[in-house]
Formats: sequence, structure tokens, C-alpha cells
Amino acid sequence: MAEKKLWGGRFSESTDAFVEEFTESVSFDKELALYDIKGSLAHAKMLGKQGIIPKEDADKIVEGLLEIAKDIEEGKFQWKKELEDVHMNIEKALIEKIGDVGGKLHTGRSRNDQVVTAFRLYLKEQVNDIVNLLSELQRVLLKKSQEYLDVVMPAYTHLQRAQPIRVAHYFLAYLEMFQRDKERFEDNLKRIDMLPLGSGAVAGVDFPIDREFVAKELGFSQIMRNSIDATSSRDFALEFLSCGAICMANMSRFSEDMIIYSSTEFSFVELPDKLTTGSSIMPQKKNPDVLELIRGKTGRVYGNLISLLTTVKGLPLAYNRDLQEDKEPVFDTVKTLKGSIVGITKIVEGLKINKEKVQAAAGGFALATDLANYLAEKGLPFRQAHHIVGSIVGYLVNQGRELESITLQELKQFSNLFEEDALNLLSAYTVADRRKSFGGTAKQQIEEQIAFWEKKLFES
Ligand code: ARG
Repeated sequence: MAEKKLWGGRFSESTDAFVEEFTESVSFDKELALYDIKGSLAHAKMLGKQGIIPKEDADKIVEGLLEIAKDIEEGKFQWKKELEDVHMNIEKALIEKIGDVGGKLHTGRSRNDQVVTAFRLYLKEQVNDIVNLLSELQRVLLKKSQEYLDVVMPAYTHLQRAQPIRVAHYFLAYLEMFQRDKERFEDNLKRIDMLPLGSGAVAGVDFPIDREFVAKELGFSQIMRNSIDATSSRDFALEFLSCGAICMANMSRFSEDMIIYSSTEFSFVELPDKLTTGSSIMPQKKNPDVLELIRGKTGRVYGNLISLLTTVKGLPLAYNRDLQEDKEPVFDTVKTLKGSIVGITKIVEGLKINKEKVQAAAGGFALATDLANYLAEKGLPFRQAHHIVGSIVGYLVNQGRELESITLQELKQFSNLFEEDALNLLSAYTVADRRKSFGGTAKQQIEEQIAFWEKKLFES
């Protein structure tokens, strides 16, 4: 049934059903309902306080809006596509509830400043949630680091065994990445946290409004200075989508590591049963679906960024209806990001490291660098030392032997600089603990890093 449009005054024909269907946004922007109401409550109170509308009218509007909020929260609210978007649905419901006085709410306001106010309120809350979820993930990573401080594993470069590292060092690497993700979101918050309301459709408002009051009511720490910018800029959302894309990239890399490490070939880690799934045909399988989906969903999060960048790139100032397309990519990134962070957190929490496996893999040729360094310490140019140890590796590989099996006698055949103490280097632990440089994998370094994070994540 056709609804009478709130903006219907100048039209002699009712809207084509196709247009209603094509242009509606309430099917997705109802996500903003409670933020829209929050914005309207502040606006109505301000109108009453400033005497722009009678105080009693403002009170009635506030009361009506609160009832509508309750209906929405209880799932009783009837959303109508014919009413286009969340804002029109709520305004119409208000007028139905409290009568014509409800029509005073839109005084000194436009949907252009209204929509972006609700959007910013929504995003501010979401970004705060995301930052908290990332902190929780970091705490779980820190706990794992402490649990596996005394286990070594191979670090890979080119996915080839490179050098032994402490397992804790590996987890702390991701902890660092998520710290930067968090900081990016926190920085983004500064630019989300700005009040656009009071800008009108584009040029400002001709009623004696009080934007300071509205900003305070809504908890915005800044007021947007330019009404044209306020109604038409979406860079705060682009920035969010970009922070989200980078964070997903980091989570996707972690997922990929865990997928590889949990394969039978590696068997470095055991994923928690309750977070994996079975195969409908192969009974032996335990599939890392959560991790695969995080890796897979990274694609859509990148897509959301490109989607909104493309939407805004050719828009003339100021508001254009194209901007209605800003919401779905943001909603999708918020949902995907939150789910993925929770997923990674649960995986890390339940992760078991196969100590024997990783320790065994950490030795062998992963110790070759240190043998070369040994010769370099004795004065041989590192390039020559590298070549000599390369020959030793080739010699052992030909015989199907591991590095640890070499004898001093054999070493001396390659260089007479080798002495008894060279054999001490054939242990992953010794080698790891020699890397004492700041940021390195030596136990003493890792302990310092753990202490640093302990302070940062638990004491603030
Ligand atoms: N649903 C619209 C949006 O999301 C609200 C603003 C509409 N403004 C307008 N002048 N038609 O952008």
C-alpha cells in the first residue's frame, strides 16, 4: 500500500513502485535506528531549550522517540520500504504516535546532516568495540607466548626453514601487528568523533541552534566546522574500511600460518576440536574452516574499501544520493572484522603446540647461519664463511645426514678455524639465545618483551 510521503508536497503523482524498491535503504540502514533516535533526542532537546519549538512540544517528541526506541528494541516496530529509509520510518512513526507535533522534530535539520550523524555515532561505538576485541586478542597472544617461552621452532623465510626462534617470539610478532591495527583504529576514532548535525542540507541552519549542546549530549568531542564538508564527506568511513582491510590482512596471514602448521605434513600445532569441522566424506579430516573463512573473507573486506572509494571518487560537492551506498560496505566490514577477531582469539586460546615436532624442526640446517657466524667471529670474511658452511651443508645432504651429526674432524676438513666449541652451536637453544640484539629471539630479549606487554595490556 502506498504511504503518503513526508516530502510529498510538490508531487502530483505517487512514486513508481520500482523507484520505491530501488531506492529504499531501510532494509539495511535500520541498523542505525537507535543511533538515529539518539541524534533526534539531542536535536529535539536543543530545539526546546533554544525556544525554537515550545518546550512542551520538545518533551512530547522526546517521549515519543523513547517509546519508538523501545518498540524497535523489542522487535515490535514495523519497517516500511515505502518510507525509504530508517529516518523517514522513525519520523513517520513519531507523527503517528504523538500527532502533528511530531512534525516539528525536523525543524532546523536535514536528512543530510541527520544520516551522517547517526552513521558517525554508530561507527564510533563499533570502532571502540573493535579496539577492545583486539586488546583481548593481544592478551591471549601474550598468554600463549608465556606458555611457550621455552620452546623453540624454526622461523621460515621463503617458507624454507631459516633460523631457530622461540615460539613466544612468533606469537609476539602478531601481537605487535595487532597493536598497530589498534592504534590505526584509535586514530581513526579522532576523525569519526565529530558532530555534523547542525549543518542542514548543505549551507547551515537559519534557526538559532546550539551545536555545542548537541555535541555534548551526543558525546562528540568536536564540531564539524564546515557544513558542506560535514554533509558530504565520508573519508572517516574510508579510513575505517582501510584500517579494517589492513587488520584483515594481518589476520589472514595468521590464519594461513595456522592452516599450514596444522597440516599433517607440519603437525606443529593442534587446533582445538571445537573450532574445527569434519568432512562429510573423509573420516580422518579435521578442517580449519574458521581460519579458511577468515582468509577468504579478507577479500570482501578489501572489496568494501574499493567499493566506497569508487562511490565517492566522482561525486560533486555536496550530498548526493550515491552516498547512501556508504552503509553496506561499512556494516559488512564491521561484522566481518568482529567475527574474525573473535575467531582468531578463540583459536589462539585453544591452540596446542607440538613441542617435539617444532623443536626437532628448529635444529638441523636451521643452525647453519651460526656456524658461518662462528667462522666470521674468528676473522674470516663472512662471504667466505658462508661459502664454507654451504659446502658442509651440501656434503651432509648428499649423505642424507643432519647438521648435528657432524664431527669436529669433519668440520676441520672444511676449515681449520673450527674448534671444539663449534659443536656447541649445534643446538637450537644455544643458537636462539645468541640472538641478543634488541628485538631478537634470545630468551632474555623475549622476557623483556613479555614484561613490556604485560605492563601495557594488563596494567592500564
Ligand atoms: N537514506 C539517505 C542516505 O543514506 C538519507 C539521506 C537522504 N537525503 C536526501 N536528500 N535524499 O544517504
